[in-house]
Amino acid sequence: MHSALTGLGLTLPVLAAPMSGGPSTPELVVAAARAGSLGFLGGGYKTPDVLADQIAQVRSADVPFGVNLFAPNPVPVDPHAYSQYRRQIQQEADLYEIDLGRVPVTENSDYWQEKIDLLLATPVPVVTFTFGIPEPKVITALKNAGSLVGQTITSAAEARLAAETDVDVLLVQAAAAGGHSGILTPDRLPPEIPLPQLLKEVGAATSLPLIGAGGLGTPDDVAAALGAGAIATAVGTVLLRSEESGTSAPYRAALADPARRGTVLTRAFTGRPARGLANIFTDRYSDVAPTGYPALHHLTSPIRKAATAAGDPERINLWAGTGYRNAQEEPAGSILKALASKA
Ligand SMILES: Cc1cc2nc3c(=O)[nH]c(=O)nc-3n(C[C@H](O)[C@H](O)[C@H](O)COP(=O)(O)O)c2cc1C
Repeated sequence: MHSALTGLGLTLPVLAAPMSGGPSTPELVVAAARAGSLGFLGGGYKTPDVLADQIAQVRSADVPFGVNLFAPNPVPVDPHAYSQYRRQIQQEADLYEIDLGRVPVTENSDYWQEKIDLLLATPVPVVTFTFGIPEPKVITALKNAGSLVGQTITSAAEARLAAETDVDVLLVQAAAAGGHSGILTPDRLPPEIPLPQLLKEVGAATSLPLIGAGGLGTPDDVAAALGAGAIATAVGTVLLRSEESGTSAPYRAALADPARRGTVLTRAFTGRPARGLANIFTDRYSDVAPTGYPALHHLTSPIRKAATAAGDPERINLWAGTGYRNAQEEPAGSILKALASKA
């Protein structure tokens, strides 16, 4: 394995990818490390205090780990399109007696500077970014603080942009990935290129070490990504049903439901392309949702929370990659080890 990763004590070439919104618990991150993998806390959506607390929990287990942040790349929503969309989805909010007119239009940076300050004050082994590429001085400061720094990219063109900075490693995310795409231009959907092909294209564009992610569900998938030039892989969806994941009950049940129809790339929930299980919400609104992250994320949040509390999977963002049928209810360490069995 590449020295960038062996230096962190890794023995498995399958990392536990960051999953914000609940799934990436400190327990999941520690379980991954104990299996010889590396797990990531998702810093997205959390307050700096909650992130600091989770970092302290993992640190107390004395294992290597990473922290992922959403780097600011806001796409302010068009006010007219926002109002129109709010009216369109109000019928879903009505089911839970929520008035979306009372949700303030929120274009925030998710405590970006505060979280960078936290990671500089108490450095962690690995920091990765998605959604945007931070200013070079931020990357340099984190490296000077001792962190290995990674950047998510979704194409060879984005890899070239990231390589202009001082990042150590690229997270190459194929469109098959569950959750938000890290695409730098969220007004476009990520191109549906299989991960091995994308790795080859990116490998031809840069000499940085690559970690491949997106749609990996079997040992053969992992072996194919490594064969296409990745130094390691990262998985998210296959861990969502693991004991240590913070996945909600209705989300877990939907992942295991054989009647589910597959996944779609949609902006309907957050205004930024993300892959999740198709449900009533994605059916009704994927074609009409405007681009606009984080405003749409905040707009739909009360519906998603109420639906989760009510056990209604049709109005929850059920983020999942194309390999979701391989997600099993097992300890995370066993899942990661099994995936690495043909590496
Ligand atoms: C529920 C969920 C939440 C995610 N949250 C993040 C995140 O906070 N930051 C990030 O860089 N990627 C996030 N991702 C993407 C994963 O890090 C990873 O790229 C993806 O899961 C890989 O594809 P797979 O799900 O098919 O294994 C998320 C994915 C899921 C399924």
